[in-house]
Amino acid sequence: MVGALTFNNANSAESVVIGGVPVPREAAEALHRLSEIRTIPEAARKVRQIASDPAASVKDMAAAISSDPAMASKLLKLANSAFYGLPTRVGNVERAIVLLGFKTVQNLALAGSICRLFRESAASKGFGGRDLWEHCLAVAVAAKTIAARIGKLDVDEAFLGGITHDVGLLAIRDAFPEKLAATIDLAAAGKPFLEAERALLGTTHAELGAALTAVWKFPEFLRETCRCHHAPELAQPQFARLVHCIHIADCLCGRNHIGFYLTSEKSEIQEESLEAIGLDDDDLEGIERSLDRDLPEARGIFL
Ligand SMILES: [Fe+2]
Ligand SMILES: [Fe+2]
Repeated sequence: MVGALTFNNANSAESVVIGGVPVPREAAEALHRLSEIRTIPEAARKVRQIASDPAASVKDMAAAISSDPAMASKLLKLANSAFYGLPTRVGNVERAIVLLGFKTVQNLALAGSICRLFRESAASKGFGGRDLWEHCLAVAVAAKTIAARIGKLDVDEAFLGGITHDVGLLAIRDAFPEKLAATIDLAAAGKPFLEAERALLGTTHAELGAALTAVWKFPEFLRETCRCHHAPELAQPQFARLVHCIHIADCLCGRNHIGFYLTSEKSEIQEESLEAIGLDDDDLEGIERSLDRDLPEARGIFL
């Protein structure tokens, strides 16, 4: 895992570069400890490996999924949900893989493993892994709706981008629970959350999330959605549209106070983001209505 870590020569005393993101040394050490404790399950790794192997068969994929009963059950629930609107009921894993495709199955496997990480995160003052999961799931559902509406984004990548966008908070919770509590207090008193993080930790959940996805060797688009969801103008051009989508979904869920919303409660949706993906205020209202309808079903699959 240390392959993603290099020392930052310009400032080697204070920071370490992980996956292109400078991280204060203390936070980087905590992040690596976390990545050793909170591992991505073997089945999810195997699924990713199979998805990237052009010679792999549906049977290979079915065997990997079926080795993890929780993953197999989520896949079947998803295949039979309104999310994919498949015409007939899907009764077994192989059929679900054929109908959904390797890429969707791979993204689902990752989403399922990340769900587990949130569940395992201990609560601390003002923060619970469940609340953060509720927020991330809502952002994922909203991002998927946006992607489907504009038609120029991969809906599964948008969903996974939403699921992972605030994963850096788990690292902060594990490594610095008192500092997280102090950050939450400052944010509740009106200071923007990212400014409070920067002041207390010298970094943010966005940067730590990007570093964590690099340590876990997640796809690059997830690093960028983590790193830039509060500042979409910083995204690399090839990921810009996806990052704008996650930024909008995050702001919508923050202003509607869904789950752990403090990070984006006061974030304004950037005009540049709406223009970049071609949405207006009427569209946003429609997306909020869809979220009310779709979130309960997503909870049924992933909680
Ligand atoms: Fe965030
Ligand atoms: Fe968020």
